[in-house]
Amino acid sequence: MFEDLVTKDIAALVPYPPGKPIEELERELGITGAVKLASNENPLGPSPKAVEAVAETLPRLHRYPDGRGYYLKQALAQKLGLDMNQLVLGNGSNEIIELAVRTFLRPGLGAVFSDPTFLVYSKVVQGAGGRITRVPLKNRRHDLAGLSRAVADDSRLVFLDNPNNPTGSLIPAPDLRAFVSDLPRRTILVLDEAYRDFVREGSLIEPREVIEGERPVIFLRTFSKAYGLAGLRVGYGLTQAELVDYMDRVRQPFNINTLGQIGALAALDDDEFYENTRRATWDGLDWLASELDRLGLKHHPTQTNFMMIELDRPAGEVSDLMLHQGVIIRSLSSYGLDRTIRINVGLPEENARFIQALKQVLGL
Ligand SMILES: Cc1ncc(COP(=O)(O)O)c(C=O)c1O
Repeated sequence: MFEDLVTKDIAALVPYPPGKPIEELERELGITGAVKLASNENPLGPSPKAVEAVAETLPRLHRYPDGRGYYLKQALAQKLGLDMNQLVLGNGSNEIIELAVRTFLRPGLGAVFSDPTFLVYSKVVQGAGGRITRVPLKNRRHDLAGLSRAVADDSRLVFLDNPNNPTGSLIPAPDLRAFVSDLPRRTILVLDEAYRDFVREGSLIEPREVIEGERPVIFLRTFSKAYGLAGLRVGYGLTQAELVDYMDRVRQPFNINTLGQIGALAALDDDEFYENTRRATWDGLDWLASELDRLGLKHHPTQTNFMMIELDRPAGEVSDLMLHQGVIIRSLSSYGLDRTIRINVGLPEENARFIQALKQVLGL
């Protein structure tokens, strides 16, 4: 009835598949103790320092947040060796994807990214009426040469998640440097490092090195994964001060709520939790890999807190059957991978439960 109120691009969008709340699923299926391994969350919970700081802040919720995010930006700038004016905060790094699109893209201009990659890029660009160019992954890795070739005069943005979701692959730093220097100056690279903290093998480039250069690059980081604060919604972008200034003009004045700012600031100081998270992730990945090998199931090396597993059955069917076993996983059919599932590392007992349920479902 109201289709004339939206653009064709918006009408064609499919809502992001977030999955049901665990409690609702348990009620529907009549089960208890369900395990969620579908959203690349931190199984250790939130940083305890963040929880304490958030609890102490609750009596001040009648005040508006600090619209500049002063203390959080100050701490981040110090940690990263950048200036505060090279930082923009977002309601999750997702909001910075949106800010970049709202600030720099307009109908008639386009964005380039890999296929498959994080689903939010296409959602936001399509919603804004931008033209999308997709470049297929090559051997489950970003095809940098293909992406370079796909950049046209009207390409305003390139989105690159490094490591990539859903494959877990990392771009070698020298290749990334060469890619950045080949980009035209009118094209902004959004380099999404949501999983940077989990990289075990391979080299990374430091934002400072790129931001001091002439190419426009926005690094994205998040407190959702390694700091366990997905529910607070805090992410940040690192880029040239001039680009921050433009995004700041478009940004809602109070986009990071008070608890988010306080929690993230405390988490940043929680080295113990951060290191525990990395260790638990790597141990969990090793354990899962050896169990999957034992079952003869194909999985892929990953530099993240999740892994892709290939099956010889439709992934949607397997994830439905796993649900009935109380294990929530991600079918990658929405990424165009019909026989592939993705799971994130859980606690040791959750990982064991996953393997047990998978054996049951696949009859192994
Ligand atoms: C590649 C990638 N970028 C960004 C995000 C979003 O993170 P945030 O919670 O900071 O919005 C995710 C979340 O899963 C992701 O996989």
